[in-house]
Amino acid sequence: MEDNDLEELPYVGPATAEKLRDSGFSDLMAIAVTSPSTLAEVADIGEGTAIKIINSARQKVDIGGFETGDVLLERRSEIHKLTTCSKALDELLGGGIETQAITELFGEFGSGKTQIALQLAVNAQLKHDQGGLEGHTVIIDTENTFRPERIAQMARGLELDPSDVLKTIHVARAYNSHHQILLVDKLKEMVSEFPIKLLIVDSLTGHFRAEYIGRGALADRQQKLNKHLHDLQRFGDIRNASIIVTNQVQSKPDAFFGDPTRPIGGHILGHTATFRVYLRKSKGGKRICRLIDSPNLPEGEAVVTVTEDGIRD
Ligand code: GTP
Ligand code: MG
Repeated sequence: MEDNDLEELPYVGPATAEKLRDSGFSDLMAIAVTSPSTLAEVADIGEGTAIKIINSARQKVDIGGFETGDVLLERRSEIHKLTTCSKALDELLGGGIETQAITELFGEFGSGKTQIALQLAVNAQLKHDQGGLEGHTVIIDTENTFRPERIAQMARGLELDPSDVLKTIHVARAYNSHHQILLVDKLKEMVSEFPIKLLIVDSLTGHFRAEYIGRGALADRQQKLNKHLHDLQRFGDIRNASIIVTNQVQSKPDAFFGDPTRPIGGHILGHTATFRVYLRKSKGGKRICRLIDSPNLPEGEAVVTVTEDGIRD
């Protein structure tokens, strides 16, 4: 899959290959999953040529057609599960946060969404047999809530060297929803350098909510969010990575979103996120996590505690 022979593709000579690589299209898979208009733009070629290149890349990496059940089963056998450091929450999720899936953490402010996301970022670099993904983490931080000091605390909580852990966590601040979407695109450039196995978008919906105001903007917002989520899902599928998105909900019902447990993003987000965990505050620093709408797991609840050392039972 990491085939770097772009020049094997029809219509791709050394000059075009260089343009592609400069724009982050460093392997056939990246080309296979892009759109003709994007490829045409970055490589300075016609769309017709771009389509031929993409089709050829798809054939070479063997995607884009129908797949038989055994191939799908094989792909599912590659799924890893990332521990949350809470046995109860791991069990609720069927063993941990799955790769090749989007997990949405939703709840009101202070419910622990960011804390759980940071714990997962610490855990992602662990070995598989320790509940890790043996990889790096990318955090798209839309609210400027990333704190390296908190990562260091959680690393020490697992008796890990904080500076080693921090070196595996790449943080980008997203300034608006457009920038947020572009950052996912930029990941293509990073994957040749770092084994990114966890991608966190905290918060998925904050910018969208602030920028698309009122009923008239709803359809446009949903469409953009939907595309963003598909980009995220594709990254998870191709890289066998876990995707975590957070979504704040208000505890008091509001005019647009009605039911307080209905996250913004509404139906589209509901159907795209593979796992949805609703978090709410309980007494004594405890948080109740409820799994909602899972395709293959029973609904249920787990109680976790946010401690100095991180997330624990
Ligand atoms: P929003 O981003 O505002 O929607 O909230 P959130 O769901 O991301 O909340 P977050 O994960 O930031 O939770 C914040 C809460 O975590 C705090 O109110 C504390 O209760 C707890 N917390 C954060 N840091 C620590 C810590 O170092 N020690 C302990 N014991 N608790 C902490
Ligand atoms: Mg937060």
